[in-house]
Amino acid sequence: VVVPVILSGGSGTRLWPLSRAGFPKQFLSFDGTFSLFQLAVKRLCAISMDGVRIADPVIVANEEHRFIIQDQLKAIGVERFDIIPEPAGRNTAPALTLATLRAAQGEADPLCFAVPADQQIPDQQAFQSAVHAAISATDQFSIMTLGIRPDRPETGFGYIRFVPESGDQPLHASAVSQFVEKPDQTTAEAYVQSGHYLWNSGMFILRAGKWLDALKRFRPDIAEAVVKSWDAHTQDGCFLRPDAALFRQCPSESIDYAVIEPCAAAGDSIGVVPLDAGWSDLGAWNAVWQTGNQDAQRNVCRGDVIALDTTGSLLHSTGRMLAVVGLRDMVVVETPDAVLVAPLEKSQAVKDVVSILQQQQ
Ligand code: GDD
Ligand code: MG
Repeated sequence: VVVPVILSGGSGTRLWPLSRAGFPKQFLSFDGTFSLFQLAVKRLCAISMDGVRIADPVIVANEEHRFIIQDQLKAIGVERFDIIPEPAGRNTAPALTLATLRAAQGEADPLCFAVPADQQIPDQQAFQSAVHAAISATDQFSIMTLGIRPDRPETGFGYIRFVPESGDQPLHASAVSQFVEKPDQTTAEAYVQSGHYLWNSGMFILRAGKWLDALKRFRPDIAEAVVKSWDAHTQDGCFLRPDAALFRQCPSESIDYAVIEPCAAAGDSIGVVPLDAGWSDLGAWNAVWQTGNQDAQRNVCRGDVIALDTTGSLLHSTGRMLAVVGLRDMVVVETPDAVLVAPLEKSQAVKDVVSILQQQQ
């Protein structure tokens, strides 16, 4: 059995002003069909593999978003699910641990397939094939990841060095010899040039028991805090709440820093299968522009927009008419109560605006 786990507790601050604390980016649609969260659920529930049963999905998210999640699941016809609301975000390592503890209640040492809620993966066929290869390789490796061939020295990702297999088949699982989360610019450039590294997609396939063993080994403090809070959890319909006071005591850390990086450094068995499916992480506005439907002027326009003598820009109006003249490589986002104007190359700095807004509150 494979339990789909969707980590959906991020706040998406770099996509302000469309992404808001009360309604962050994973619940928004960027292609006019389904939200990123709904696409993630549909993608996992559609996996079909001989001899593998896909269990009901487990969603770990911020308490504040539980009803959005419930509504969005029902809207895509998913009626059976568990939602684990977190009283406070403690990053992905505690979130995944909660999900594995839940999954292990229903099944004997299940495989969990944990994915972020904020990615686009256009090629479902290629995704399926890579997932099949990764699931098959879980006999050989304790933790499997899906890796993306890098096309730029992005510093916001994890980098995976793999041991090339003979034959170099695209859907072959290779051993991971090094994992570096969010390297600096120079290091990222060297990694991309070397051709020996893949990006970490943030998707992991692992046995619940193996995850807990690894966490106990590298971050016993996190393991202890999460297990305690889960032992005292309460259930209210589909909502499974860890004890709030105990969970708040848990240190905050990501899966990557807490376990994957030290695990790879210790030579433990982590494997990677390359994923070639048009993957993109919609982290900031430049990524939305890059993956959007570009017109002849390389503009991506949404809503009521007039663009004159403008190229390479993302122009997004949610209501009012947006008219621009003479822009190059800019992002302009209009919402009822806030407007963003910035060069696309400064997309990462949008989170600084949100920090200022938070201080003012
Ligand atoms: N439940 C819960 N609780 N979910 C969370 C929390 C939390 O406290 N924090 C983040 N998430 C969710 C986000 O909503 C997102 O879907 C996913 O976990 C990953 O978190 P990010 O904050 O987006 O991580 P990242 O982008 O910095 O880095 C990760 O993803 C990259 C690929 O997109 C790492 O795994 C990198 O190694 C990887 O390259
Ligand atoms: Mg991310």
